[in-house]
Amino acid sequence: TNSNALARAAGKLYFGTATDNSELSDSAYVAILNDNTYFGQLTPANSMKWDATEPQQGTFLFSGGDQIVAQAKAHNQLMRGHNCVWYNQLPSWVSGGHFTAAQLTSIIQNHCGTLVGHYKGQICESDTVGMLSMVRRRSRSKLQIPIASHPEPEPFNDDGTWRSDVFFTTLGTSYVDIALKAARAADPSAKLYINDYNIEQTGAKATAMLNLVKDLKSRSIPIDGVGLQCHFIVGQVPTSLQSIIQQFTALGLEVALTELDIRMTLPATSALLNQQETDYKNVIAACKAVSGCVGVTIWDYTDKYSWVPSTFGGQGEACPWDANLQKKPAYSGITAAW
Ligand code: XIL
Repeated sequence: TNSNALARAAGKLYFGTATDNSELSDSAYVAILNDNTYFGQLTPANSMKWDATEPQQGTFLFSGGDQIVAQAKAHNQLMRGHNCVWYNQLPSWVSGGHFTAAQLTSIIQNHCGTLVGHYKGQICESDTVGMLSMVRRRSRSKLQIPIASHPEPEPFNDDGTWRSDVFFTTLGTSYVDIALKAARAADPSAKLYINDYNIEQTGAKATAMLNLVKDLKSRSIPIDGVGLQCHFIVGQVPTSLQSIIQQFTALGLEVALTELDIRMTLPATSALLNQQETDYKNVIAACKAVSGCVGVTIWDYTDKYSWVPSTFGGQGEACPWDANLQKKPAYSGITAAW
């Protein structure tokens, strides 16, 4: 039995993968991507980001995101939106703009509202096609606000302080409220997530995120979940991962593991590939063990299209399928754990 079918049998909404528009012309890649016994959910790796969707102020482009949504719909896969507000991959009119607080507030409201509003109908339609009732009831577009990426943290620095990006500098922490409220207004049934990395283990950054979501909830700002990105290193999966998942779900939030990959220093050896199998198994087991952990998404399924080699010098082989689209031991780790 394949990875998504096993995740569903374990009571989760999905086991999914990121994908990107340029990859969709690779027919061997797409054949596996479209198999919803493997993947029950897709995340667009780039085409819903701000630079792609509003490259000039007020000019919205949705063709890339629409293509991924169509791909998911055609194969009864759920969609996770990615993302509304993030310091990275911003068009220069946002990152280099000198806006007053009032101006930037309306810019965020317009961006989030238009983006989430555009995907409202299409994503709900895909919810109603051929999925089990739990998925129809619970799965929604998951707009992640804000989202962070290596090497720079957001909304938090690793020490738990706020990142000084254009949003924080102009609006303080209120930009999170502004984005979440705009997204909720545009699609009241979308599950709204805050997504970050290096919050998968006990420490200052996880504590800062716990405090942020507690504060949001105490002020009735809409927030449904926290995304733990899970960009890990072979042999270094945090032992406190399950405890962290429990700490977030104890606040009444969903948790999703949103960008899982586990990289190694190249060249790969059989020892490293075997350790990677154990590592994937441990991550899936942590999600499986906590009912509020709704699903796991890998940050593309194959080493052929992983972001790792171009981002982390000398590292790679982070995905469960190799560059020839063959399953690695890591895939067995995933199925064994589900
Ligand atoms: C990455 C994409 O995979 C790359 O194609 C792009 O060049 C840079 O962004 N965390 C995130 C994702 O939240 O948006 C990042 O995606 C990977 C790290």
